[in-house]
Amino acid sequence: MTGFSTIYKLSLLAVFSLVQGCLSSCPVIECWYTLEKSRGGGGLASGANQVNALLFVKSEEQQHDRETMNTPSDIEHTFSITDSSGFLCHKALNPPEGSIKKPHCELNQIQPQPSSLLWVAPLTDSAQSPLYLQADWRAATIHGLDKEMSVTKAISLFTAVILSVTTKTVFVTARLGVPALLDCSFWVDPSSPLHGAGFSVEWRYQFRGNGHLVLGYDGKNDRLSDIRDKGAMLDFEGVHQNGNASLILSETKVKQSGTYICSVHVPYLLAQVAVELEIVEPPSISIHPSPPPIIIPGQIVTLHCEASGFAPLSLDFSWELTDSEGNVTPLGSGSVSGHREGYDGTYSQSSKLQLDSAKLEQGRGGELSCVAAHPGGTRRASVTLNVIGFSTPSIEDSMAMVGVALVLYGLIKFVSWTFTGSDKKLIGCL
Ligand SMILES: *[C@@H]1O[C@H](CO)[C@@H](O)[C@H](O)[C@H]1NC(C)=O
Repeated sequence: MTGFSTIYKLSLLAVFSLVQGCLSSCPVIECWYTLEKSRGGGGLASGANQVNALLFVKSEEQQHDRETMNTPSDIEHTFSITDSSGFLCHKALNPPEGSIKKPHCELNQIQPQPSSLLWVAPLTDSAQSPLYLQADWRAATIHGLDKEMSVTKAISLFTAVILSVTTKTVFVTARLGVPALLDCSFWVDPSSPLHGAGFSVEWRYQFRGNGHLVLGYDGKNDRLSDIRDKGAMLDFEGVHQNGNASLILSETKVKQSGTYICSVHVPYLLAQVAVELEIVEPPSISIHPSPPPIIIPGQIVTLHCEASGFAPLSLDFSWELTDSEGNVTPLGSGSVSGHREGYDGTYSQSSKLQLDSAKLEQGRGGELSCVAAHPGGTRRASVTLNVIGFSTPSIEDSMAMVGVALVLYGLIKFVSWTFTGSDKKLIGCL
């Protein structure tokens, strides 16, 4: 009978909220509402169609006044829900007035179901179907705005949110080998019979059609699944105290990039959110041979730039030459090789530069750099190029040559004067 009294209470709450009205900071969200035309018959594709709906969110104390909101004419349904968890009133779901970007929202009707998963089954082992199973359940899936992403899945009974699961880290990037935290938290309405009836948390990994269990936790019996990924952990104290179901990966590997789904089960109900993890590791780069051979003018030299240990596979090579005055000449990307994959899932790739020394400015050397641009950061390696032999004289060289010429001229003049002078003396004596 507890189930019935709760429904009664929630219905009352709905009526109450319609009567009351005041300003609120909680959002009004435009949603796609999936209607099922005929229950039980056909698949989702044949039996479902989507219509526009407005979702009025209220926190416990604050209520929207429906009368003061002008509802656009293309809206076929409006729903009011009270969210005591406050997740739906997060600012990421509440765009500033007049902004084009809006949260994405989908509303569905759902049927409560028991789960046969090993770490979820104990939640429904009493086999007594509570009355609330017959009620009108809906699920709202809401994706927040671009920058401050937050995904929330809220399960509501009539007009009150009963279970919500949210993540504040929709996209997580981590360097290789460091710990990563995938945020997920849940909330169960304390006034619902589901509160205190136990919960389970399941994290699954999904990548290109392949999936596996990362970790399952039966919160009712405080039991962790036997099968779980090495280094994957939950904060057990946090999960019981604050519904902090965040997944901790102690040491990230490249092959852990993918989608992680956080599912929170309470008896007969489930809500889930997805978190995208990408391991981003910039390359280490070097130029070969190093030091490069001394260049004979006119010769074509070949240099290789090797980039290794990077992920994901997205790299742009460029070569450039910096002369002694600091002028930079771009030399293109060179010929880029195919990639190789290492045992740890990172990639390596190289670029070959064929440098025609005749084309070097003034035939002189300079600093040759290989630049590798990667989502994890840009890396650069440099070597000094030296050209021997021919070089056109610089101003200083010309000045020095003029100086030397003058000195030589003076010396010749002096010597010839001395000799002619002594000749004259000799003639004079004769
Ligand atoms: C959840 O737990 C993790 C690991 O202990 C912690 O780093 C994180 O800050 C917690 N999140 C919240 C919202 O408390």
